[in-house]
Amino acid sequence: MAAAFPSAETPPVEIAGARILVVDDDDVGRELTAEMLRLRGFQVRMAPTCREGMEVFQSWEPDLALLDVVLPDGSGIEMCRHIKQHGRTRLVPVMLITGLTDHESKIRGIEAGADDFLNKPVDPPELFARVVSLIKLKRYTDELESAEDVLFTLALGVEARDKYTQGHCQRLATQAAALGQRLGLAQEDVVALRRGGVLHDIGKIAVPDVILRKPTGLTEAEWQIMRMHPSSGEEICRPLRSLARVLPIIRHHHEHWNGGGYPDHLEAENIPLLARILQVVDAYDALTTERPYKPAWPAERARAQLTTETEQGWWDPHIMGEYLAMLRQSPQPPEPPAV
Ligand SMILES: [Fe+2]
Repeated sequence: MAAAFPSAETPPVEIAGARILVVDDDDVGRELTAEMLRLRGFQVRMAPTCREGMEVFQSWEPDLALLDVVLPDGSGIEMCRHIKQHGRTRLVPVMLITGLTDHESKIRGIEAGADDFLNKPVDPPELFARVVSLIKLKRYTDELESAEDVLFTLALGVEARDKYTQGHCQRLATQAAALGQRLGLAQEDVVALRRGGVLHDIGKIAVPDVILRKPTGLTEAEWQIMRMHPSSGEEICRPLRSLARVLPIIRHHHEHWNGGGYPDHLEAENIPLLARILQVVDAYDALTTERPYKPAWPAERARAQLTTETEQGWWDPHIMGEYLAMLRQSPQPPEPPAV
């Protein structure tokens, strides 16, 4: 049977059937665009307003959103901004439909995170070429997200092996990100701290249970294995370029300010900043939660201990000072895990 359209316009097999949302209040234009895309093998849903568009977007989870700039109850630019500000949807490509000479909308669209623009009136070959390109990008980010999901699941699996550290990763993620924000770090560094909180001990996957769960008294040979977990974790996460900012946190979260830590015996500001932030939060969490070798300490005793350790040269004094100030403002220690 002959193809319904020329084979040169058939979408590559990996993106056939992709879902496209078209939001446009112009009935004729919207139907025409949808029909062009359906003819080329895509699934299409339509909406004439922002409100209906967002409802379909959230329930249907399209692979691409095609948004007209001017809508009766708002603007495609605002819809785009909303989509790009939310972690779960930020990687869905958005293409704005604008007038050929509407430079102001294009600039506002770029600021809102739009991935591409389409001029009115819509030119079918241009529409098809841009849609194919964006959906290929979406497929790539889907694969990337799946690979990241595997690593995050693996990290939580490592945590679950030790009943004493349950909830540790999530508390670290929250506290480290809060401290990063307090220190005025850029948003991408705050995100890296949140991810580092979950992933920092992923290298413990290579540490046998008999060592990981031993309450006290590791032999020198066992310590050697334990001290490999930062570099093992870095190796596990290195293939994902999206985790590049997290790698220094994983590798260096056991360095000490005075050079006495591991694996590289870095000193002072040679220890990457994000690792210095995570390690003070990590140290506090270890003190305020129950471990095989000690009960959970009250917040005040933990803060005094951290002050002593800072004087002994373990932690960055400035970062510890900020963290202790943050804790004093919100003195409630993290919820101890139920063990
Ligand atoms: Fe660790």
